[in-house]
Amino acid sequence: MDLIIRRAVLAHAHPAGCPTVDIGIEAGRITAVEPQLTTAAREEIDAAGALVSAPFVDAHFHMDATLSYGLPRVNASGTLLEGIALWGELKPHLTQEALVERALQYCDWAVARGLLAIRSHVDVCDARLLAVEALLEVKRRVAPYLDLQLVAFPQDGVLRSPGAFDNLKRAIAMGVDVVGGIPHFERTMAEGAESVRLLCEFAADKGLRVDMHCDESDDPLSRHIETLAAQTHRLGLHGRVAGSHLTSMHSMDNYYVSKLIPLMRESGVAAIANPLINITLQGRSDTYPKRRGMTRVPELMAAGVTVAFGHDCVMDPWYSFGSGDMLEVAHMGLHVAQMTGTDASRACFDAVTVNAATILGLEGYGVAPGCAANLVVLDAGDAIEAIRLRAARLAVVSRGRVVSRQPAQRAVLALEGRPQSVDFRLHR
Ligand code: FE2
Repeated sequence: MDLIIRRAVLAHAHPAGCPTVDIGIEAGRITAVEPQLTTAAREEIDAAGALVSAPFVDAHFHMDATLSYGLPRVNASGTLLEGIALWGELKPHLTQEALVERALQYCDWAVARGLLAIRSHVDVCDARLLAVEALLEVKRRVAPYLDLQLVAFPQDGVLRSPGAFDNLKRAIAMGVDVVGGIPHFERTMAEGAESVRLLCEFAADKGLRVDMHCDESDDPLSRHIETLAAQTHRLGLHGRVAGSHLTSMHSMDNYYVSKLIPLMRESGVAAIANPLINITLQGRSDTYPKRRGMTRVPELMAAGVTVAFGHDCVMDPWYSFGSGDMLEVAHMGLHVAQMTGTDASRACFDAVTVNAATILGLEGYGVAPGCAANLVVLDAGDAIEAIRLRAARLAVVSRGRVVSRQPAQRAVLALEGRPQSVDFRLHR
């Protein structure tokens, strides 16, 4: 075998009565998951009871804007509106080289964080399609170790922005994977609904997935998710469509939501919340009480809707924080949605791993024989502890190769009569 990870605790399926397993890897695939492998391997990692999971997956990101914070100036107010204005100022000065360089730097951060699959929206409203070309180049360059899925995103509205639909079609023809949209940004509710119909029909015709920025607003009457679900159902796109953000659902009338969520379930439409961004951008014009703005994550999950958490932004005009850490995203989502129960906390780990992988349609995702050998070894005893500690990624394995290592997080104390080091883990 090429690699064996010994004494691993699994985040998901676990053989009964067996606290740890050995994971055997050969030719980029997991070939064995057993209590004890007697074969030898060229390389071995002793997880020593640490959690081993399939890698983190970010279902919603903007790689064309990432790491541009401060260009051409910082967002002094921290608001969505100043962020949009800033992006408008920056766009004419973007170069392909700089876009590629920043995106590759972010992918390095992602790998170090055990984040090995990212769905990134890419703005197609600039007729030059500079960002599309840049991110397609990045996708090619990172393909040996990271799955980058691109969404053609008409950021200024597919109907509102002149030429946007043609640009989107060109982007898809160039190799962009998914059809995006932003119905709440069109001029009217009716045009928003029309944009959803147009884009879903295009996706159905091309056999593509759909992921729309949908109802990223505090307006309870922003109901494009209803149209998205209805079009998904009409066109038979079940399981291939996601609504991103869905923040208006936070403010909607409860009776209306009691109809909406079953409609989403029936249509197989997935939901992607972006906790870090939703909690900072939504409710911004409220006095008190201030709304949280994140969509109804536990209710959607309880109804059987696939829900993922995305990072959305890292150091860009909208958000000056973040480092590609999906455990930070899960941590925020857990707090905002008050998902502190045991099952609910575990569900937040799923929202940045298996649920996101389902939305992206990743092949061979998981820790079982036959799966792709993409793994992260976390300095934690279980998924909840991993979220609590934003645990160190002790090792990251991509396509069967160890691509990153990080030391365990310990502090050295200088206190008399006390232990000399601090270990933040409790469950090992
Ligand atoms: Fe977004």
